[in-house]
Amino acid sequence: MVLKVAKRGAVPPFIVMDVLREANARAAAGEEVLHLEVGQPGTPAPGPVLAAAHRALEQDLIGYSDAMGRAELRHAIAGHYRHAYGVELDPARVMVTTGSSGGFLVAFLAAFDVGDRVALAAPGYPAYRNILTALGIEPVVLETGPEDNFQPTVAHLEAVEERLDGLILASPSNPAGTMVGREQLAELMAYCKARGLRFISDEIYHGITYEAPAASALAFGEEAVVINSFSKYFSMTGWRLGWMVLPEDLLRPAECIGQNLFVSAPSLSQAAAVAAFDCYDELDGLVAAYGANRALLLEALPKAGFGRLAPADGAFYLYADVSALTNDSAAFCKRMLAETGVAVTPGLDFDSDRGHRYLRFSFAGRKDDMAEAARRLQAWLG
Ligand SMILES: Cc1ncc(COP(=O)(O)O)c(C=O)c1O
Repeated sequence: MVLKVAKRGAVPPFIVMDVLREANARAAAGEEVLHLEVGQPGTPAPGPVLAAAHRALEQDLIGYSDAMGRAELRHAIAGHYRHAYGVELDPARVMVTTGSSGGFLVAFLAAFDVGDRVALAAPGYPAYRNILTALGIEPVVLETGPEDNFQPTVAHLEAVEERLDGLILASPSNPAGTMVGREQLAELMAYCKARGLRFISDEIYHGITYEAPAASALAFGEEAVVINSFSKYFSMTGWRLGWMVLPEDLLRPAECIGQNLFVSAPSLSQAAAVAAFDCYDELDGLVAAYGANRALLLEALPKAGFGRLAPADGAFYLYADVSALTNDSAAFCKRMLAETGVAVTPGLDFDSDRGHRYLRFSFAGRKDDMAEAARRLQAWLG
């Protein structure tokens, strides 16, 4: 008898992971591959985090925490809001999660029912729509482009004719790296509040900004669901740790969902992550290095033929319109990897309708690799 494979689990692949597999296979076969595909810092966690992890391994039980997270870490996260935004936050509103990815799952389950409709920008981080779809929640795509800085506006929301139940905003965004200003953030939040939409603010790239610091939704009201992570600014991707700041009405539902889905976020990571908030100088040094990579690529990529780039005010990505070079960015990226050893991500990951005209460069790696990638691409495209 043939057993059923559920349709709800048939989410599209996260193409960048497929590119990474191919890039790693080439590297294993001895090719010198330059990784501009994957969005992760090329550095380990800060030294004090590693030291705290070693101490915890020797002295700590590393058992479960409660589903909201270790008290000491929730307290340190609340302190981070004072440091980074001048906002006072009650640690009781913080839930520690298994990366921001675990946070999305808990937040969407707590806030939305099957059949609800949640707006999000395209291009955008693909897991939002794939998690929503797997949960039976309908993603409503707001098409954004250079004219609106690749960010949703109130006009986009007003143009949606059917009911909406929520909005997901990422500023700085992945893949464009663009940001909304304080005014636009306040406007979007006010629109959502007035119409009963849940406002979900993905703040995972906060701290990695080049022009102006990012504003947190938390500064504009207590109704937003704020999601953040240790993966990017804190350089701790594989530690699988993130957090949410929740409005009062979602706290207990999220706690119950967390108890059942995860029991607790990884305890070793929680013990270590407390030390991350003593490392701002070291972490800001990493941001300065991303800034140098960004400047290098902003100068070199146009010379190599990639002239139409989103502004990248934050995060570590350059989203390039390559319609003058190809109409099939997936095939283009495959050929680029095969012929130059430079791995980048096709835009299809972020925008299923228009992504065939775009690709994303990640500049989270080493500066030498950025310079070498630009050199190879310039030689490749002549
Ligand atoms: C915008 C955005 N949100 C969330 C994530 C997920 O990160 P994590 O689960 O490691 O916190 C990523 C990862 O690249 C991302 O780009």
